[in-house]
Amino acid sequence: MPSLQASLPPSTPSPQGDVAPIQLFDPASSSYTYILVDPSSRQGLIIDPVDTQVERDLAVLAEQGIDLRWTVETHGHADHITSAWLLAEHTGARTAAPAGCGIRTASVQLNDGDALSFGGEQIRALHTPGHTRGSMCYQWRNHVFTGDTLLVGTCGRTDFQSGSPQALYDSLTRVLFALPDETIVWPGHDYQGHTRTTIGAEKTGNTRVAGRTLDEFVSLMNALNLPRPKRIDEAVPANLSSGHRHDAGGGELHGVQAAAGYAGDISPQLACRWWQAGEAVLVDVRTDAEREWVGFVPGAIPLAWKQWPGMVVNPVFGEALAGVVPVGQKVLMLCRSGVRSIAAARRASELGFEAYNILDGFEGEPDEQSQRGHKGGWRHLGLPWRQG
Ligand SMILES: [Fe+2]
Repeated sequence: MPSLQASLPPSTPSPQGDVAPIQLFDPASSSYTYILVDPSSRQGLIIDPVDTQVERDLAVLAEQGIDLRWTVETHGHADHITSAWLLAEHTGARTAAPAGCGIRTASVQLNDGDALSFGGEQIRALHTPGHTRGSMCYQWRNHVFTGDTLLVGTCGRTDFQSGSPQALYDSLTRVLFALPDETIVWPGHDYQGHTRTTIGAEKTGNTRVAGRTLDEFVSLMNALNLPRPKRIDEAVPANLSSGHRHDAGGGELHGVQAAAGYAGDISPQLACRWWQAGEAVLVDVRTDAEREWVGFVPGAIPLAWKQWPGMVVNPVFGEALAGVVPVGQKVLMLCRSGVRSIAAARRASELGFEAYNILDGFEGEPDEQSQRGHKGGWRHLGLPWRQG
């Protein structure tokens, strides 16, 4: 895990009463993630989180005592996969994305001018098409988070994913450059170690747009000839579902599918048959609170993989599992929607168990109205459960 300290600017109010975002960097994709915190309530919001950094981000949230309320995307990324869905699963945050990006799993679809609140704070969405048709920037106090629309000294590319140099020119000059000059710009990427800029500096010094007419900008952008992003074929589809992937599956829900690091992914129906026939032990790895509020499976062994406060991994998970399940016995891991159960199945496999992840978990994925329990999962399928 990279050092947290190195990338953490102050999150406490400065003498002027300003509050800075927490800026975090993913070196593999040169992406910035931002965590914004309301200093009084400690409620927070995260912009453009990266899947491979989810443990780091959860550690920052826990360390700083932040109650994450929102995960927000600036656009559907082509170079990394969002951790929005994982963060929602682990922290209870809601997911939001620009309405024009086709991220249908996001619980809130943002339109231009919409606001999201966390504690006493608010961000405002600015629709800034160009890098992609749906791209948005987010304004917060005297800060703006610009995704790939405006980068330090440059701007995002416009040659794929519904990009348009004409639209980008308009977004840069008419929307972003209309913000006060002293507005601090926090980019979605940087490849040279820059961390921030200001609207004033970009208006006069941006190498692509400053001093250029629309036609000059369009010719420049169309002549860039950039290589295709390495992860585009994998990242774009995954980001359309907030980063939720069933890599091992391909949609087959009735058998057991091979998986990396554990025995396999299994449908709730087959898991229930094995369990009821005494061929396997069913372990519910959700928190006590989830079992109490959402419902539980009578006879399943309750053993939380992560637990409040902070949703840190249960340090005695392996020990406790070994105490209740004989080695050699099949173990079926059930969580809310099939994410924590993967981690739990991997850990159990390391300890010598034949461990399976139950696809879609107890509640399944959220539907278009962000309600769970209507799109698959143990309860939706009519398998045995009771309200706590
Ligand atoms: Fe992008």
